[in-house]
Amino acid sequence: MNFEQLLEQKIKETENCICRYLPKEEGFAKKLAQAMNYAMLAGGKRLRPLILMESFRMFGGTGRMPEPFMAALEMIHTHSLVHDDLPALDNDDYRRGRKATHVVYGEAMGILSGDALLNYAYEAALHGFDLTAQPWETSRVVLALQILAAKTGLYGMLGGQSVDVDCEGKAADGDILQGIYLRKTSALLEAAFMIGAVLAGASAKQIRAMEQAGRKTGLAFQIQDDILDVTGSTKELGKPIHSDERNQKSTFVALYGLEEATGQVERLSREAMEILQGMAKEKDFLPKLAEWLITRKE
Ligand code: IPE
Ligand code: IPE
Ligand code: MG
Ligand code: MG
Ligand code: MG
Repeated sequence: MNFEQLLEQKIKETENCICRYLPKEEGFAKKLAQAMNYAMLAGGKRLRPLILMESFRMFGGTGRMPEPFMAALEMIHTHSLVHDDLPALDNDDYRRGRKATHVVYGEAMGILSGDALLNYAYEAALHGFDLTAQPWETSRVVLALQILAAKTGLYGMLGGQSVDVDCEGKAADGDILQGIYLRKTSALLEAAFMIGAVLAGASAKQIRAMEQAGRKTGLAFQIQDDILDVTGSTKELGKPIHSDERNQKSTFVALYGLEEATGQVERLSREAMEILQGMAKEKDFLPKLAEWLITRKE
């Protein structure tokens, strides 16, 4: 099997895992469940849950312990996208190749389904405890929950989104911009790299190295996202291009130019790769996956 075929198979497995944790479209708040599933089932690369699982495997993990966390992380990521597209934030009408959730279900339901996904993520992640038999496994689930919550909240993705919005129309300098990217994008990737390692029983030093790999991968990934916002196509990306310019966002492309931004993506991905290769064995999929996602076109 070549890399693409293997990736496709792994994405399918990840989708199956996520689907098992989605709400049933029934009951009193059926419409809310429908809006949540609309956002979750629109496709998407499923990178974060995939990284989480491959990180678990890289540290010798076997079994199903990562599954609740894979679903949870993709729910948190999807929550961030649903809210990111709202009129009050980036005001984008397309996401993952179809109409954004707030366009189909209305703005109020866009807000509420985003909130509900964020909460449902923790409802899913708490099922991690159902899969623990030994005390040390329980401790790993507790640590994984702490990482998930911290990387999502005020000091993580949400903090980054808040400064991103706050800087619209202003010329943010390089340090502020990097601070935004490290939170709005790196934080959830750090969670993916770290949680897999934690659940497999990696050492504190290894977990710190995984955080660094996530940090650099996330930065490169967001700079590449900025580049694609300028050079990509709506068809390939499944979301509108020139969204950053329309919203007067400061981006690495606007600040440093396309060439320099591309160089930064290359440098950061090389650094991320070196960290991963320092821990991976030849057969491990994670370094190959990280390399692919940074140089993505979609
Ligand atoms: C989009 O993330 C938001 C950014 C952090 C740039 P992805 O490019 O991983 O989005 P999906 O999940 O594939 O739709
Ligand atoms: C992504 O920033 C950050 C999050 C959604 C948390 P963008 O606003 O650039 O993401 P896209 O381009 O809309 O996917
Ligand atoms: Mg945004
Ligand atoms: Mg956006
Ligand atoms: Mg973008």
